[in-house]
Amino acid sequence: MYRTHTCGELRLADAGKEVTLAGWVQRVRDKGSLMWIDLRDRYGITQLLLDENSDPKLVEQARSFGREYVIQAKGTVIERESKNPKVPTGDIELRVKEFTLLNSSKTPPFTIEDVSDGGDDLRMKYRYLDIRRNPVRQNLELRHRMAMLVRNYLSNLNFLEIETPMLIKSTPEGARDFVVPSRMNPGEFYALPQSPQQYKQLLMVAGMDRYFQIVRCFRDEDLRADRQPEFTQIDCEMSFVEQEDVLNTFEGLAKHLFKEMKGLEFDQFPRMTWQDAMKYYGSDKPDIRFGMKFVELNDVVKGKGFGLFDNADLVVGINAEGCSEYTRKQLDQLTEFVKRPQVGAGGMVYVKYNTDGTFKSSVDKFYTPDDLKVIADKFGAKPGDLMLILCGEAMKTRVQLNALRLEMGNQLGLRNPDVYAPLWVIDFPLLEWDEETQRYYAMHHPFTAPKPEDEALLDDPTKWGDIRANAYDIVMNGVEVGGGSIRIHDRTLQNKMFHTLGFTDEKAQEQFGFLMGAFEYGAPPHAGLAFGFDRLCSLFGGADSIRDFIAFPKNNAGRDVMSGSPAPIAQEQLDELQIKLDLKI
Ligand code: AMO
Repeated sequence: MYRTHTCGELRLADAGKEVTLAGWVQRVRDKGSLMWIDLRDRYGITQLLLDENSDPKLVEQARSFGREYVIQAKGTVIERESKNPKVPTGDIELRVKEFTLLNSSKTPPFTIEDVSDGGDDLRMKYRYLDIRRNPVRQNLELRHRMAMLVRNYLSNLNFLEIETPMLIKSTPEGARDFVVPSRMNPGEFYALPQSPQQYKQLLMVAGMDRYFQIVRCFRDEDLRADRQPEFTQIDCEMSFVEQEDVLNTFEGLAKHLFKEMKGLEFDQFPRMTWQDAMKYYGSDKPDIRFGMKFVELNDVVKGKGFGLFDNADLVVGINAEGCSEYTRKQLDQLTEFVKRPQVGAGGMVYVKYNTDGTFKSSVDKFYTPDDLKVIADKFGAKPGDLMLILCGEAMKTRVQLNALRLEMGNQLGLRNPDVYAPLWVIDFPLLEWDEETQRYYAMHHPFTAPKPEDEALLDDPTKWGDIRANAYDIVMNGVEVGGGSIRIHDRTLQNKMFHTLGFTDEKAQEQFGFLMGAFEYGAPPHAGLAFGFDRLCSLFGGADSIRDFIAFPKNNAGRDVMSGSPAPIAQEQLDELQIKLDLKI
């Protein structure tokens, strides 16, 4: 038997027991006559003791142990003289009678401690060592607990977990596909699924009624902190449901997770239309942990001789409560912030409502104190507040102001990761105009149903941008954690949708023939949603990056620096696949 207990298990009540532990050497402290070894495994750390009564051979053996050596220690549990209340095993130590060296180790390239001295790249290269560290291990444990809760919750609601293929035909979900060549079918390729969208709809046609899958998805898109080329969804689909049923079901799941993981209870999640989200927050995923709702000012700022405002499509701002004392330097920094290319504003106007009731603004030349009071009233501002205003083309300006609002939220400490503000954003537009290709694309995907009351607008191309979809996102703390829609189950409407998206009959048949064919055999009304599981985990873990919650993530260039993928393949493999490379690099 390698061990009788784990390294996190022994307590004062175990004193006197003869036990065997196995684990990694975290630290050796050698004080001559006394020697301590911290022995670590997944469950914790137990202190091993050698003292003046220990066999000198044992002491010598212990002196040969380096960091991360794998050892087995047999001995007696004793009460510690100086206890450590910070660790669960801190009341005891193990007086060692016998060591067995199970394996030696090279000196690790960084310290395996909560706060490591290893940089990001190094830790990723040796991810198996990084995972030995508590914070990373705990993240993976959190992920496991979440997955178990999700499975049990959905299974209890009659959802079946059904696996769908990984080698599929391309699913147009908005990103690029990763493709896999087929040896048996030269010149032909599978795609890795961007999501199981079409398969889950086929499962509804197949009468499975309630499906879910914790499933890997693949998207070849630019990477960010909350995006990985392979990521995991909690993918769900239901038959005979309306939007209300879907929202309630998955709100139930989210509440269950909050309760079990965080002990938090919520009333009904608020709902906001996409229109309002854009108008009041300049984002389809507003962070509603804090206020600073947008206030539109066109009716109170125009006609006072300030050309920038007079000519702007939209003048809009936020009120930062209690910030009238912001210094010149702080205001300049905010102006610089909005002028950065990533934000792209031309500049920023501020109005300080001083605590003594006077005003100071960057546009004092054009606006009298009375004018500024009217603006302040529009904001509902009080003495002591600071108003920040941007102007320009409406949608662009809103998006810029969103960046400024989030920055102010950060500066003022209003984005506390321990506070959770879930929200449904509903009524997304069905179609989105793309300037570059001069055509409409499905905002969600081509299977999303328009709102029945907007369906007639499909016949009028000038109105396509106004059509609302029965599509919804679940947003938490400014993160899109999930999204879904009511699907089109009627073949005629689906054909119309394909035409709207510029597909010819042949192209639609070629790409989606199998789904269209299935819809001729009694497709039930159905709808669904997918949570981004990695994002949900990082949110519950209070972290920004989803990489911390993935055992073996890719870096920002899409590389796995540990295994060295992607990598060239051998000429024989290419020959077998009948692929000839013609790289232009
Ligand atoms: P959607 O494309 O909105 O919908 O994806 C669902 C959720 O998956 C997460 N997500 C990602 N997470 C990490 N890295 C990525 N690259 C990434 N891309 C998306 C997000 C997102 O909300 N088939 C539809 C769902 C449906 O209609 O039922 C779909 O995939 O949290």
